[in-house]
Amino acid sequence: MGKNKLKKFAEMETMNCVFQFPFAVIKENGCPMRGHWNENYFHNDNPIVLELGCGKGEYAVGLGKRFPDKNYIGVDIKGARMWTGAKQVVEAGLTNVAFLRTSIEFIDRLFAPDEVSEVWITFPDPQMKNVNKRLTGTRFLNNYRNMLKDGGIVHLKTDSPFLYTYTDAMVKLNNLPVEVNTSNLYNSGLADDILEIKTHYEKQWLERCLSLKYL
Ligand SMILES: C[S@@+](CC[C@H](N)C(=O)[O-])C[C@H]1O[C@@H](n2cnc3c(N)ncnc32)[C@H](O)[C@@H]1O
Repeated sequence: MGKNKLKKFAEMETMNCVFQFPFAVIKENGCPMRGHWNENYFHNDNPIVLELGCGKGEYAVGLGKRFPDKNYIGVDIKGARMWTGAKQVVEAGLTNVAFLRTSIEFIDRLFAPDEVSEVWITFPDPQMKNVNKRLTGTRFLNNYRNMLKDGGIVHLKTDSPFLYTYTDAMVKLNNLPVEVNTSNLYNSGLADDILEIKTHYEKQWLERCLSLKYL
């Protein structure tokens, strides 16, 4: 592993906003923060919003700055990417943004039923070959349904025509109400201050002139 990565990992160990637990602990007993995120970290009753596969956490940090009365948790397996967001949280003194470094595969062991109000899925791997890993597949939708409060919202931003079409079909199959659905966000007139937050991957897709989808 490169020196730079090791330095970032060491720094993350010292950041209060970063949570990392051994896989074995999460697998066997669940995440120790499950059901206690507000009580033990944010110290308020504000709504919890997740960014799944957050990478550098542009949504977790960007929304955290805009909405101090909501709590944000970015989840990703890759520590070096997460470091970028965590560093911004520390430097800006944000107390409403945290990061959890682990696999989303264990999502039901990370958050308790009714603990979450909103989920952002930003440019996930489409997982064309593995339906069980698709973040908008039946397995994950059931997990979201379980951990979301009544009226909870799931946002998907994607460059993938495959994942967009698949998710659209899944939403219909599950009779889920859709508030917004566009296959070309930046041509739709729908992009506002929130939807215009651009993630690392999003900027790359835009440079290639791909139309981005939001559902
Ligand atoms: C294509 S990147 C998008 C990153 C970021 N959201 C963005 O738009 O720039 C997908 C991200 O999902 C994360 N990821 C993929 N599978 C995961 C898993 N099972 N658990 C946690 N993170 C995962 C990857 O580490 C990666 O950072």
